[in-house]
Amino acid sequence: MAALVETKPRAIDIGALVEPDRVHRSLYTDPAIFDLEMQRIWGRAWIFIGHESQVAEPGQYYSTMIGRQSVLLTRDADRRVHVLFNRCAHKGAQLVGDRCGKAKELRCAYHGWRFDLDGGLLGIPLEQGYDGTRFDRTSPEANLAPVPRVASYRGFVFASLSADGPDLQNWLGGVASSIDNMVDRAPEHELEIAGGVMRYEHDCNWKFFIENLNDMMHPMVVHQSSSLTARLIAKKELDPAAPTPAAIEIISPFTESYAFFDEMGLHCFDNGHSYSGGKTSIHAKYSDIPEYNALMEKAYGKERFAEIMSVNRHNTVFYPSATIKGAIQTMRVVKPVAVDRTVIESWTFRLKGAPEELLRRSILYCNLINSSANLVGPDDQESYRRQQVGLETQGLDWIAMHRDFGRDEDLGGGHTYAKGSSDLSFRNQWRAWKRYMIEGAR
Ligand SMILES: [Fe+2]
Repeated sequence: MAALVETKPRAIDIGALVEPDRVHRSLYTDPAIFDLEMQRIWGRAWIFIGHESQVAEPGQYYSTMIGRQSVLLTRDADRRVHVLFNRCAHKGAQLVGDRCGKAKELRCAYHGWRFDLDGGLLGIPLEQGYDGTRFDRTSPEANLAPVPRVASYRGFVFASLSADGPDLQNWLGGVASSIDNMVDRAPEHELEIAGGVMRYEHDCNWKFFIENLNDMMHPMVVHQSSSLTARLIAKKELDPAAPTPAAIEIISPFTESYAFFDEMGLHCFDNGHSYSGGKTSIHAKYSDIPEYNALMEKAYGKERFAEIMSVNRHNTVFYPSATIKGAIQTMRVVKPVAVDRTVIESWTFRLKGAPEELLRRSILYCNLINSSANLVGPDDQESYRRQQVGLETQGLDWIAMHRDFGRDEDLGGGHTYAKGSSDLSFRNQWRAWKRYMIEGAR
């Protein structure tokens, strides 16, 4: 019989794998690195959970993940929102097995323990069997365990598995204004998740997706097959005097020039957050919807309305778990599954008080651009897959992120600016990654 050998976990020198302008390929391919990320990044950062409108009414729940942890977003009878671990306090079965629903109480499917939507224990079958035992019904251990920190910013609920760290607003820093702008676009100052969700799996590491969101050297190349084709067909087939169909307005800008994307610019902040665009973006030339403009002017006044609409951002990244496009009211949520597998969810929002045409346009956007079964999204997904396969090869160890290195503009308070073609957003994400990974080891 072979002797049992105690193996020490392999030591990984995190600091040596991330340099300011290049990173080592193993960061995307090594399962041991993925395990550490789950503890040190996904186990510590504020992770997007859901939008308050997903649990608008008392009794509603929504189940999701923080890294590998199954959690529940709930609304109790007093209308308070909770994020709880999705684990029965009895023998540990996952309490809620479906994605979402509404119930008076949460009952475990295994032995029937019942819990309130705030996590409190309501009842146990034959409860007298515990009389005189060490089981204490009033102890917190009899309830569903709350996730250590939960906070909401204008309806967007985040949670952290760590009891320590900066509060949500400080952590968001300069990208909180992207949420503000998306909410301000609602005549009734509120958003609501609507239009369903697209949930699809990518054969790649989660970081390829989140890096791509502010990568502005790729659209004009990888999206030629979809966007350029759409432009050519529109030119050939459509009457130039007729209004441009929304689908053409949405797809065409993906093959704008390098100069256009440079002009959009990149804004990066501490904790890995960033947004591209600002004064202009690929969403800037959508047709006006006069009924919406009138409602917004009524709600905000002409000047404030113009100010809100002058903010035209492309993707905002809340590193590591979520991205929004305020100008078209969509959101994508990142769920790492394994070192080479990631689930991406694509959500749309209704601007409360706005005509339904805006929601329809957001849904059309997600169908055309984000869906893995349509035109633009598969271009990106195929690129991520090729990166995953390419970086598994032993040919070269480093990934270059040198473009415009050393030419960033420091705007103070952790805010850095560069032209759109810069690699700044990658370097900024890796700076945060390295800090989480090194600080998390202590
Ligand atoms: Fe893309």
